Amino acid sequence: MTAFIEKEQEYIKSKIKELGYEIDNVVLNTSSRPEFGDYQYNGAMELAKANHTNPREIATKIVDSIKEDDRYQDINIAGPGFINITFKDEALIDHVNELNSNINLNYENENKKKIYLDYGGANVAKALHVGHLRSANIGEALNRLAKSLGNETISDAHLGDWGRPIGLVMKEIKDRFPELPYFDKEYKGEYPKECPVTAEDLILIYPIASDKAKYDEEYLNEARDITARFQNKEKGLMELWKQIMEISKADIKNIYDQLNAHFDIWEGESDGAEYMDELVEVLKNKHVVEKSEGAEVVYISKEDDDHEVPPLILIKSNGSASYDTTDLACILERMKKFNPDEIWYITDARQSLHFEQVFRAARKGEIVNDNTVLEHFPFGTMNGADGKPFKTRDGGVMALTDLLDMVTTECEKKILPNITGEERNTIARQVAVAAVKYADLIPFRLTDYNFDPVKFSDLQGKTGPYLLYSCIRMKSLLKKADEQGIEYKSFTKMSDKIDRDIIINLLNLRNVILKSYNVKSLNDITEYLYKITNLYNNLYANNRILTEEDKDIQSSRLLLTKVVYENNIKLLDILGITVPEKM
Ligand code: ARG
Repeated sequence: MTAFIEKEQEYIKSKIKELGYEIDNVVLNTSSRPEFGDYQYNGAMELAKANHTNPREIATKIVDSIKEDDRYQDINIAGPGFINITFKDEALIDHVNELNSNINLNYENENKKKIYLDYGGANVAKALHVGHLRSANIGEALNRLAKSLGNETISDAHLGDWGRPIGLVMKEIKDRFPELPYFDKEYKGEYPKECPVTAEDLILIYPIASDKAKYDEEYLNEARDITARFQNKEKGLMELWKQIMEISKADIKNIYDQLNAHFDIWEGESDGAEYMDELVEVLKNKHVVEKSEGAEVVYISKEDDDHEVPPLILIKSNGSASYDTTDLACILERMKKFNPDEIWYITDARQSLHFEQVFRAARKGEIVNDNTVLEHFPFGTMNGADGKPFKTRDGGVMALTDLLDMVTTECEKKILPNITGEERNTIARQVAVAAVKYADLIPFRLTDYNFDPVKFSDLQGKTGPYLLYSCIRMKSLLKKADEQGIEYKSFTKMSDKIDRDIIINLLNLRNVILKSYNVKSLNDITEYLYKITNLYNNLYANNRILTEEDKDIQSSRLLLTKVVYENNIKLLDILGITVPEKM
């Protein structure tokens, strides 16, 4: 079954083709001026340009070719050639009932893919920061959106577990506990069973070590040496690495769980490292590896590049692997284990060049199939209120947990006074996560925005808490109707313009979902949720529902409540937001 809006678009497209014009697709938009019509088609302008003719003339031809159809109440042309279409009530009513019987109609997809998603990207032994927040929020939402459209997805947290930060942390541990045996190459005895530091210690240790390395060259050199030694799998250091990994992973998982980001796979850079030798062999067999100043590199620039694309450094002159190499090795691993149709990376826009290099090298070395899609979906920065990158008061990187705590404090003020104790804390956190996630997904993916805990937590306006609150109210209305034994099996009577507005927007959801999926940004969905919820709340505020005497109107409004509610819950779930029972 095809969604209403798609059927209508296909119909108009076929009519335009019959008129002799080439056209790829027709998109109907909900009207910005509802007094003119339900939906608007703006394609006449483009058609006119392509066919060197007047848009109004084309618009007239299109209107003439479709106006006999008895689904339309009115079709008119406005301005230079905007076509406004109003459907008959019966047509809209039929379709809202169809949608009620199957809200999944909007999520049909014939072109299903196997997609491997790399997001999260937390670094072991370092605190998660706001960049990781955005990767988790956007990545998880894109994962859920892809799944809702029937694609098979594999999500991977891709931990930063193989680089210098861990070497720095180990160096600091060595200085603090010189008696520990991990650092002695010759040691043959048992190692301690437990990590010498806690998860909280780890997070404090990294910035200290990183600072020391900035002014103490000897310190830095030893950290480098330790990094190279653990990457070469020296026994004691590997033991310490495993212990650090274990406690750090548990800590990271806890934060991702709070954010409702769940990964199928908890691999990291170290897993790619397992494929390093094989990678180098494959690339050498394809004759794409060259020597340059002691390093082994893959040249990937192209003649028509409009920016510099430096060679990918496969093996550094000191023999170690780079961030580029582990990513390339991971592609090899993923192709062998899963052979996905597409691999998506969701990171900060500052990593764009890195991925461009990795993808080019993967193609040049034929590590992927010709038709394997490799995509980096970068995102903009979350800034502080001053519009500058988000920092703590002392200029440090803001840890994600501190940021969530800040928003939780704001949200706690907004919830009902009769919710107390532990439950109050739990709900405040849940509302805060909704506030942060929704705010994070409002801007177009690449757009920077400012963090504003007070605004994000408001119960009014375009916020997570507003949507949660509205959903709770819809649910409670439906529950009351059920308790009173009121039935609402179908929509039968359009009684107010607001009913129509809601239906028009409900029937447009398919377009919103497809657009979001095409551009891999959630902003259309967040906008849609706000719009439909506002329309519904207008209906709720200005009309009777449970006390309505006309039974047809009553059941029709309850049915609309149910469809809006179910749609909203599903959309919020795509965004990774769960609705509490009360707040
Ligand atoms: N750990 C990296 C960072 O914190 C992000 C990893 C992104 N994914 C990848 N495959 N490189 O910046």
